[in-house]
Amino acid sequence: MIRSALRLTLALLALAPAVLAQTSFQTLLVGIDHRTVTNLDGDWHYLVDQSPAPALYTGNGQINDRGYAQNTHPNISNGPHNGEYDFSTAPTLHVPGDWNTQVPQLFNYEGVVWYQRDFDVQPIPKPGTRAFLHIGAANYRSHVWVNAKRVCDHEGGYTPFDCEVTSVLHPGSNFVVIAVDATRMIDGIPSVGIDWFNYGGLTRDVSLVTVPAAFIDDYDVHLAHGPAFQPGSTELTGYIHVLDAPAGTPVTIDIPEAGVHTTATTGADGRAPFDVKAASLTLWSPESPKLYKVTLTTGTADQRDSITDDIGFRDIRVDGTRILLNGKPIFLSGANMHAEAPIRGGRVDNDQDVATIFSYLKDLNANFVRLAHYPQDERMERAADRDGIMVWSEIPLWQHISFDKPEVYAKAVAMLNEMVRRDRNKASVILWSVSNETPNNPIRTQFLTNLANEARRLDPTRPITSALNTAHIEGSAGTLTDPFANALDVIGLNQYIGWYTGQPEDADTMQWTLPQKPVIASEFGAEAKAGNHGAVNDRWTEEQQNYVYQHQFVMLNKIPQLRGTTPWILMDFRSPTRNIPKLQDGYNRKGLISEDGKKKAAFFTLQQAYKDHTLGKPE
Ligand code: GCU
Repeated sequence: MIRSALRLTLALLALAPAVLAQTSFQTLLVGIDHRTVTNLDGDWHYLVDQSPAPALYTGNGQINDRGYAQNTHPNISNGPHNGEYDFSTAPTLHVPGDWNTQVPQLFNYEGVVWYQRDFDVQPIPKPGTRAFLHIGAANYRSHVWVNAKRVCDHEGGYTPFDCEVTSVLHPGSNFVVIAVDATRMIDGIPSVGIDWFNYGGLTRDVSLVTVPAAFIDDYDVHLAHGPAFQPGSTELTGYIHVLDAPAGTPVTIDIPEAGVHTTATTGADGRAPFDVKAASLTLWSPESPKLYKVTLTTGTADQRDSITDDIGFRDIRVDGTRILLNGKPIFLSGANMHAEAPIRGGRVDNDQDVATIFSYLKDLNANFVRLAHYPQDERMERAADRDGIMVWSEIPLWQHISFDKPEVYAKAVAMLNEMVRRDRNKASVILWSVSNETPNNPIRTQFLTNLANEARRLDPTRPITSALNTAHIEGSAGTLTDPFANALDVIGLNQYIGWYTGQPEDADTMQWTLPQKPVIASEFGAEAKAGNHGAVNDRWTEEQQNYVYQHQFVMLNKIPQLRGTTPWILMDFRSPTRNIPKLQDGYNRKGLISEDGKKKAAFFTLQQAYKDHTLGKPE
């Protein structure tokens, strides 16, 4: 019975990629932060719709379009009794922002909050113009109404989406109402158990974008990626997708600084593929994070659409156990980072948060960051592009996910598409990760292998990875035989010798048997409360954390295929599962820096190792 159920699920999962190839994904406009938009950030009215959230969900679980979405005002003094809510007199929340750190009563709230604001549409969009509401991210499920008409629904707390509002807008004053439900779900991604704070709300920028009838919604401009890296190659390739454009629509690609001016033409699918040789090119790298102004233009006169993006060109690939950047072997000296705002706490959502995080990475002498465990604010990748920091980007398939459900696979593919689509033109992003610490069983392996192949289909120019904690440790022998590793180009190895398992010194004698692929030590570390001091084996002290690092270095330097290190984690972060008073107080304390910016002893040990390049080798 169990065997036949397993066979059936595996068969269904094997089918999943084909089934999903047909699925149309939510509209997503690429390069929004490089378009002229009407910014809708600011103070939005809000109302809390506590479980079972009757204003949002009808008795049979449908979405209630007749509730708060109508944005009516109560007849207080006279007239028939009507809806008992009123956004116009309700308090406000700042957007972008999580609600948890803005309103003390909502600190631990994981439910439905309704947002509302008015906005003006002036001047009246020219005939044939289209308008979209762009939402950078909303955690977790969101339903959007404009002028009382539902325009879209979205699931996923860490990727952007767009809702077409052309038909519902009118000149003058309009209103938008968004219900955001942060309730965790078994069949969600992530599922119910997470080790980070489930900040809810409209956590990233919201804007109104107007574009011509046929417009550029997606593009890919990269250095040609043949079977082997071609030193000196200046060949650029890719495509520009013009949504709803008739076949034969011309698109121009201009990169003045690289001497590129070329034209491509759309096919029936709206895609205009191109290949062009640049006169000269400085390739992007941490040492020289060169970005070029790339202008894409289509349409004529008042139906002209143009976007100028800042794009770097580089080649990243795996060669045996080496990772090559522009043909040269590299070592990734990094750290993990959650989207926890330094000092002020809460979800990262502004330039200052990002600047502080990148100053920490700079101080650490890092050239790499693993953005765990979900796509973070696009400002992070933009800063990485500018500062020359390479990025591991991941979708939140964290530990236990409903791998046996094709509908959950569909959600994973949608999130993967949204992540790749938003950041495919970011030179800093060198790795796509499809999961973290998932259980080693056939259903999970089939699911994730399909997903890794989907990532390769979407973007054949970047290696695919995942963080695995399925290594078997017996005595001082560590062996990774997880079949999912076969589907990966780069292996992420998570282990906590010296903290969750064994003593720090045990690392010294560890012998690892790992796949003949590049390996990144994607998590290791220990907890320490900043300012808590003691002997090297006094857990929770800076000395013990530092001691764990020192012994990890001994072990990691013995792994011949080690090509990167991202200890867990750059900065302490909030987590609902970390509740030892006076030590954790709701924070995971494995940071090298405390949430209020204090650098712990281990920070300086790693800083020195990255400066002296004494941890790991490029080949
Ligand atoms: C895991 C996991 C992290 C978690 C960390 C920890 O490896 O990937 O999300 O926070 O360990 O336990 O601190």
